[in-house]
Amino acid sequence: MLLVSRCLPLLLIPAVLAAGDAPDTDWSEYLGDAGRTHYSLLTQIDRSNVGKLQLAWEFQTGDVGEMQCNPLIIGGTLYGVTAAGDIFALDAASGKPRWRWREGASSQPDGRRRSYRILRGVSYWESGDDRRLLFTAAGWLYCVDAGTGRPAAGFGQDGRVSLKAGLGPTATEKYVISTTPGAVFEDLIIMPLRLSESADAAAGYLQAFNVRTGVLTWVFRTIPPPGEFGHDTWSAESHRNHDVGGANSWAGMAVDRTRGILFAPTGSAAPDFWGGARKGSNLFANSLLALDARTGRRRWHFQFVHHDLWDRDLPSPPVLTTVRRGGRSIDAVAQTTKTGHVFVFHRETGEPLFPIEERPVPKSDLPGEVSWPTQPFPVQPKPFSRQTLSEADINPYAENRDALLARFRGARHGAFEPFGLHDTVLFPGFDGGAEWGGAAVDPQGVLYVNANEMAWIARLRETPKADELAHLSPGQRTYATVCAACHGIERQGNPAANLPPLTDVGARKSREEIAQLIVTGKGMMPGFPALPASDREAVLDFLLGVEKTETPPAAPIAGAPASRASIAVAQSPYRLNGYQRFIDSRGYPAISPPWGTLTAIDLSTGEQRWQVVLGEYPELTAEGIPPTGTENYGGPIVTAGGLVFIAATKDAKLRAFDRDTGRVLWEAELPAPGFATPSTYAVGGKQYIVVAAGGTKLGTGKSDRYVAFALP
Ligand code: HEC
Repeated sequence: MLLVSRCLPLLLIPAVLAAGDAPDTDWSEYLGDAGRTHYSLLTQIDRSNVGKLQLAWEFQTGDVGEMQCNPLIIGGTLYGVTAAGDIFALDAASGKPRWRWREGASSQPDGRRRSYRILRGVSYWESGDDRRLLFTAAGWLYCVDAGTGRPAAGFGQDGRVSLKAGLGPTATEKYVISTTPGAVFEDLIIMPLRLSESADAAAGYLQAFNVRTGVLTWVFRTIPPPGEFGHDTWSAESHRNHDVGGANSWAGMAVDRTRGILFAPTGSAAPDFWGGARKGSNLFANSLLALDARTGRRRWHFQFVHHDLWDRDLPSPPVLTTVRRGGRSIDAVAQTTKTGHVFVFHRETGEPLFPIEERPVPKSDLPGEVSWPTQPFPVQPKPFSRQTLSEADINPYAENRDALLARFRGARHGAFEPFGLHDTVLFPGFDGGAEWGGAAVDPQGVLYVNANEMAWIARLRETPKADELAHLSPGQRTYATVCAACHGIERQGNPAANLPPLTDVGARKSREEIAQLIVTGKGMMPGFPALPASDREAVLDFLLGVEKTETPPAAPIAGAPASRASIAVAQSPYRLNGYQRFIDSRGYPAISPPWGTLTAIDLSTGEQRWQVVLGEYPELTAEGIPPTGTENYGGPIVTAGGLVFIAATKDAKLRAFDRDTGRVLWEAELPAPGFATPSTYAVGGKQYIVVAAGGTKLGTGKSDRYVAFALP
């Protein structure tokens, strides 16, 4: 168990502490500590009194929308993020604001609408009186004084550095942001990255920046160039980053500060669903990397998906824990996956603590694709979500059950069934199994993980070739090649997958706003900064219905690009025909419940302690259907008080479970679903549980509030 000094409450107990008072206790790092354990030593709230929890304070950020932030609480100040990416500091006992930071605040005219973005929190560093917060906005890593929110002295230029600093020249025009706080080790911060997932993706290298100066200190190349280990697991040109990229660590990292080891989980290589330009197993995509935190030198790695064709990123930060084997304690690192497995390794050697088998998986029949023949499966612990679907798993309550059965029979299915030009039911789905919320682990080595059980339907289609698009107007052509994969050929969108229709977008957004959104991206939409301005203007004309309809001239115009049809954004020959959940006619999952679960797993023995449904549709319960669980996003926390707290569900509840039995001991209604991981802390003798409740994923209501609970 890793504890930073601020988490050691015994050292901080004031002499005047009254009986029952909780010692001041921080939540000083993303997900609780450097081991990302989501664990707190606090015991004031326990099984006997949790039923009495009540609202302590609420903070309205003023920015309504999805928040995934896990706030930090340090010395009585709470640091959080609004739905628009503003950073704020509050009095953690009262919720009263202290300061607020906004990107480009001084240069932006008042009233300019800001684009909303996901930011899961901030990182904290201190040395003597120098106290700093680090976080990202657009393509920048910012560093501010934790006391004032003003740019930190001596960091980069005016307190910021580019997240592209170590990615090489090909990244200049590419989409590079970060949604997850960096991992701090000594004077370094190692940064997660979010990139495009198509052929135009930047290379997802790991970068360590000096916290005092912003200077780039080391880079680990996840797509190795010639001469480096792993280069031969790609096509010869993959490392050039022309039509292959990704392998970025986006979900967050853990650090073993005693041993100086960084544990970084990586995502898929890009493009996600077409591997013809990246033949091989693709190290270090979909891998857990154990690096020397000071130098970035690789100690060991394990790859969870070889030659990924399903977007099976490692979705959560690894957790550091200690397990027991034959009377011995072993410091371990555990990694949860979208397929619903947990893999456990020896922290220093990478030796698996339960056997892992390479099992044969189906072969791709897509021309040009060479899928990998096997994938690794841990023999124990048993998976925490269902692994396969059969006809018996089609939702028994669905009104259109026969149609769903027919659709299922007409499709291929399986966890590692490669996509083709036909329907494939992907299960476990694109969003897990496990998700970005991550898992909690207590000092006894018991892991608490929430999971989705949602099937998705996908098929690939051929990317239209330039000559096939010749009859289209320039705007239609850009739309068909760059936007239609998500927003639909007919601009109809896919509300069930949170993809808005663009048929009447002009009624909701100005031309300027849409233009900005195309460049910067928004929420889960990537930006397209490499799209030439002419293509951007053309697609704007098309979307806003002001496009000139004459067919484009056959001969090139002097001075203009040779062919407007040659879109500068790199393209793969096949692409996914949208992200579609497999749902019934009422919008519920097309498979039988449970649809969301919470599971406790003993990592020493590999045994499952308990599994319960997580979340409820009250209208289905009213029909006499036992609680089904709902899709859920955001993780649990676990306390020495014997409790597991989690929001995450579509039904907008915050719940407390008994960590020994999985029984719900308390629940409260939030103003909107809390798709975020709660934090717990104590200040002024009182323990608080706080969660950001922004809603909006899964088509739910929304709010702008952070909500804190405490005993009366
Ligand atoms: C990888 C999928 C994806 C691609 C490709 C994509 N979008 Fe989006 N787009 C989204 C998502 C998801 C949202 C919702 C973002 C949010 O509000 O969180 C969105 C939102 C939008 C909106 C705002 C709609 C509204 O009602 O507020 C516009 C406008 C838009 N996209 C235009 C485009 C254009 C133009 C392109 C092509 C240049 C494009 N998108 C390509 C996924 C995508």
